[in-house]
Amino acid sequence: MTLFRPHHPSGRAFFALPIFALLLGIPVSAADDQFPEGPGKAVLLKVCTQCHSADPVLTLHRTREEWKDTVDAMKGYGAEATDEQLGIILDYLVKNFGKS
Ligand code: HEC
Repeated sequence: MTLFRPHHPSGRAFFALPIFALLLGIPVSAADDQFPEGPGKAVLLKVCTQCHSADPVLTLHRTREEWKDTVDAMKGYGAEATDEQLGIILDYLVKNFGKS
């Protein structure tokens, strides 16, 4: 299931997102315990919930390259994180939501 379609950054998508989330009934609280434990989980839940719930990640499987594109896109949207934090998140995503 894809909740959001990948597309290029646009200010409109950014501001509309919380409204879409409400309309779709996506829970606002993060389902923390659905994320596998491991290094990076806390950083992901801190950084990747600044604009939207992290829940869509749970349904995804991507290669390292694809996750890197995703994380880079989020940085482009204005994610507040250091490059080191983003690297930790990337490793966590590849390990737990990877694709062979
Ligand atoms: C500054 C705001 C912001 C932050 C922080 C943020 N995102 Fe996003 N994210 C968005 C917006 C806006 C969209 C919808 C536009 C789109 O689909 O690209 C989105 C969509 C997504 C999607 C669905 C699109 C896709 O690629 O399938 C995923 C997955 C995602 N974000 C993951 C993350 C992860 C992982 C992080 C943490 C590294 C993160 N987001 C942090 C703004 C943000």
